[in-house]
Amino acid sequence: MRAYASDKFGEISDLRLQDVPKPVPTADQILVEVRAAAVNPADLKVLGHKDGGRFLHAASFPLILGYDFSGVVREVGAASAPHAVGDEVYGFLPYARTTRGGTYAEFVAVGAAAAAKKSAAVTHEQAAAAATAATTALQALRDKGRLAAGQRVLVNGGSGGVGGFAVQIAKALGATVSATCSAGKMAHVTESGADQVIDYKATPLGALTETFDLVLDVASTSSYGTCAHLLNPGGAYVTLMPSVGLVFGLMRTLFSSRRCGFVMVKPVAADFAQISTWFDEGKLRPQVDSTFPLADLPRALEHLHSGGVRGKIAITI
Ligand SMILES: NC(=O)c1ccc[n+]([C@@H]2O[C@H](COP(=O)([O-])OP(=O)(O)OC[C@H]3O[C@@H](n4cnc5c(N)ncnc54)[C@H](OP(=O)(O)O)[C@@H]3O)[C@@H](O)[C@H]2O)c1
Repeated sequence: MRAYASDKFGEISDLRLQDVPKPVPTADQILVEVRAAAVNPADLKVLGHKDGGRFLHAASFPLILGYDFSGVVREVGAASAPHAVGDEVYGFLPYARTTRGGTYAEFVAVGAAAAAKKSAAVTHEQAAAAATAATTALQALRDKGRLAAGQRVLVNGGSGGVGGFAVQIAKALGATVSATCSAGKMAHVTESGADQVIDYKATPLGALTETFDLVLDVASTSSYGTCAHLLNPGGAYVTLMPSVGLVFGLMRTLFSSRRCGFVMVKPVAADFAQISTWFDEGKLRPQVDSTFPLADLPRALEHLHSGGVRGKIAITI
């Protein structure tokens, strides 16, 4: 099969469209013919073997990048219920050292629990673009942040992949949402449904005087220490990147009503199903900034690197 892969850790220029063996699913896996994938910052971390990327993928070559997929089930293992050949499914591969393949490829073998039915309301590109990003937002807001209806949340980095879904999912959970972004993307974040949009350069988090029940630091540019003044009693600071600041935050909250936490997203079929339901109900809108064919994957990765993206970049396979 054709896949975009690198024969070493390195740069975007090391990626080549090449022929690689088609994966063979195990008993608890399904083989998906990938129709679309999506770009994530993790791709560049894995390729560059930096910023924690070594913990997100096996060091096996050729290194096929890509986690998100949406496509059609072509083979099912003996223990891969509830999936059937012909089902349209989406999901993402685990961000883990055990992950050997990637979704910038014509086929991918995925665990049965790492896929769920794609909503008929969205395209394969839109579904793939939601897989990691919307699931991360859901697990961060609902599970780690324990966000409840009527509460106030601040999403730091509301214009990117995770942030665009975090704004929408927080609204779907009944919260009042404030979100930060760069000045040029404020209209986009307002369209996503944020009640208040803050230019992070004009008003840094340290200058905010309001308080929140949850600060979700998607951009992970802050820390519990610099956000503690923003938290109501019982409130939580949740980040997507581990850091020394996180350790200090965990220590500071040991004897406090406030909480500090880190989310590492996991592929959970029930969460994918919830996201599909929200798409069906029109509670979630797709977040695709642009779509590139597989042959243009390097250009797509450069586009993400440029910082000009609103939402997600999808890849048509
Ligand atoms: N732990 C996990 O499970 C997990 C899961 C998914 C992603 N992540 C990580 O989370 C991060 C975000 O992922 P993503 O897919 O949303 O990335 P993305 O699409 O590139 O979005 C990055 C966001 O950060 C914002 N940003 C940049 N500098 C900022 C600043 N100084 N203050 C506030 N916001 C700022 C950007 O806003 P502007 O573009 O408007 O500047 C944009 O909204 C990445 O590091 C990614 O690897 C972790």
